[in-house]
Amino acid sequence: MDPIIDVRDLKKYFPEVKAVDGISFAIEPGICFGLLGPNGAGKTTAIEVIEGILEPTAGEIYYKGEPRGRSFKNEVGIQFQNTELPQYLTVKETLLTFRDLYDRRSDLGYLIETCRLEEILKRDNRKISGGQKQRLLLAMALANDPELIFLDEPTTGLDPQARRHLWDIVRNIKSLNKTIVLTTHYMEEAEILCDRIGIIDHGKIIVMGTPAGLLREYAGGSTITLRTEIDDAMLQSIPCRWFRKHGHIEIQTDSSGECIRRLVELGVDLSTMNVRHQNIEDLFLKLTGHELRA
Ligand SMILES: Nc1ncnc2c1ncn2[C@@H]1O[C@H](COP(=O)(O)OP(=O)(O)O)[C@@H](O)[C@H]1O
Ligand SMILES: [Mg+2]
Repeated sequence: MDPIIDVRDLKKYFPEVKAVDGISFAIEPGICFGLLGPNGAGKTTAIEVIEGILEPTAGEIYYKGEPRGRSFKNEVGIQFQNTELPQYLTVKETLLTFRDLYDRRSDLGYLIETCRLEEILKRDNRKISGGQKQRLLLAMALANDPELIFLDEPTTGLDPQARRHLWDIVRNIKSLNKTIVLTTHYMEEAEILCDRIGIIDHGKIIVMGTPAGLLREYAGGSTITLRTEIDDAMLQSIPCRWFRKHGHIEIQTDSSGECIRRLVELGVDLSTMNVRHQNIEDLFLKLTGHELRA
């Protein structure tokens, strides 16, 4: 299927930093594509260039095979990472005001129901919780019944329950065959919501694929965590790669049995040992040497 959006060698340089440094990807209609990366990786800059809010330094962006034109503006919805809501307006007034800006509009009842706003419609914007604010911002992004929706870190700062709530809504939107581009620094979010992810660091996409495919390809092994002191010389004698983190050591290995046998031989205290399958955070650490959630 032809991509709905096609980004080719996109760059955005600021005087001090190459925020986006040559990224390329094409997104099929109807999927959720995620840019996963730590703070400062270039996620917001990348999607703001694609949205048309920032001018690229170089590169090309095609929407349905053509350079972005009027139809692009009319057919996309944007949820910004940081948005101030108008004060002294209720949730319903905000939604109505925003929806009036467009010729093409989503049904109001649909927006309220999809984004679960029934109970807060009469509430002043200043009196809604973080999760409620994100749901209102999502409804605003859907106000013009967009085909393509950009969500910039939609759940950052939310508590786990509010986060799950928002995930349900995003899945709902996805089931309507809309295309979603989202950014996140939460591995679980990328795994749960995204059909494909690009892992981004220092303005470059390091790997791209389905969450399961990436795990199969790059993170088939185990991660062993130990809250005990082991010196580098000892670790060097084990078939593994290790990282020292706050208060513990993380050992990544493709042969956990062999690794644990060596630890026993070395007389390491294993009472705090935890062994688990590798996840996307381990993959990120393996590929970049630093953590996704710094
Ligand atoms: N307007 C700007 N001027 C200069 N530097 C910027 C600007 N916006 C972002 N940056 C820098 O670009 C890099 C990427 O930022 P950003 O795209 O916000 O990352 P992310 O959204 O992944 O946290 C950071 O180093 C940030 O400081
Ligand atoms: Mg950002």
